Amino acid sequence: MLVTIVMLMASCVSIVNNENSGENKNETTMNTTMNDLLTRRSVRSYTDEVPPIEVIEEICKAGTYAPTGMNKQAPIIIAVTNREVRDKMSKLNADVLGMDNDPFYGAPVVLVVLADTTAAFTWKEDGSLVMGNLLNAAHAKGLGSCWIHRAKEVFETEEGKAILRDLGIDDTKYVGIGNCILGYTAGDYPEARPRKENYVYWIK
Ligand SMILES: Cc1cc2nc3c(=O)[nH]c(=O)nc-3n(C[C@H](O)[C@H](O)[C@H](O)COP(=O)(O)O)c2cc1C
Repeated sequence: MLVTIVMLMASCVSIVNNENSGENKNETTMNTTMNDLLTRRSVRSYTDEVPPIEVIEEICKAGTYAPTGMNKQAPIIIAVTNREVRDKMSKLNADVLGMDNDPFYGAPVVLVVLADTTAAFTWKEDGSLVMGNLLNAAHAKGLGSCWIHRAKEVFETEEGKAILRDLGIDDTKYVGIGNCILGYTAGDYPEARPRKENYVYWIK
């Protein structure tokens, strides 16, 4: 009983401290976030199953909360769950490489990030941070993900531009940043490769 009361008091103190610092997080949340950041890996094998739409929406929401230069929110996300469009994007992507296998590794969902080059001079950095949020949020929600490149080249093609125009997106302003593929991991989850030496230089 006494132990329970002490534990309850300790958790109250912790919550109050966090409220005082103006931050809405506690020790458990911080540890989970750190763990997610350290354990996210690029997944290159997926099942066909499309994750629930609410989960995909939450991942997109995390993308929209990425920091952006002067808060101009230059990036946009095109969330593709439609198989036909997903396959078309895969084909356009493969064409850039001159390959004919699926560069999306069978992932059923693609979140394409593009950025408005006229909105902020930081459009490329902004778009990359959105990509980072999407990849980490996918992992936090238990999904596999991977950055697949060549969104720039794909949306420079006539077929790519037509996809944008169909959505009412100005194809003269938006440039592709990356494709975040999503789905349930098939097979083993990849291990992180060792970090290089001298990644971090300290000036204390
Ligand atoms: C800008 C960028 C482009 C990438 N393009 C591809 C790609 O086209 N295909 C792919 O399989 N992985 C791609 N990746 C994933 C990297 O290969 C991967 O992040 C890297 O090998 C480290 O592995 P990890 O993400 O599991 O830590 C890309 C990553 C970044 C950041």
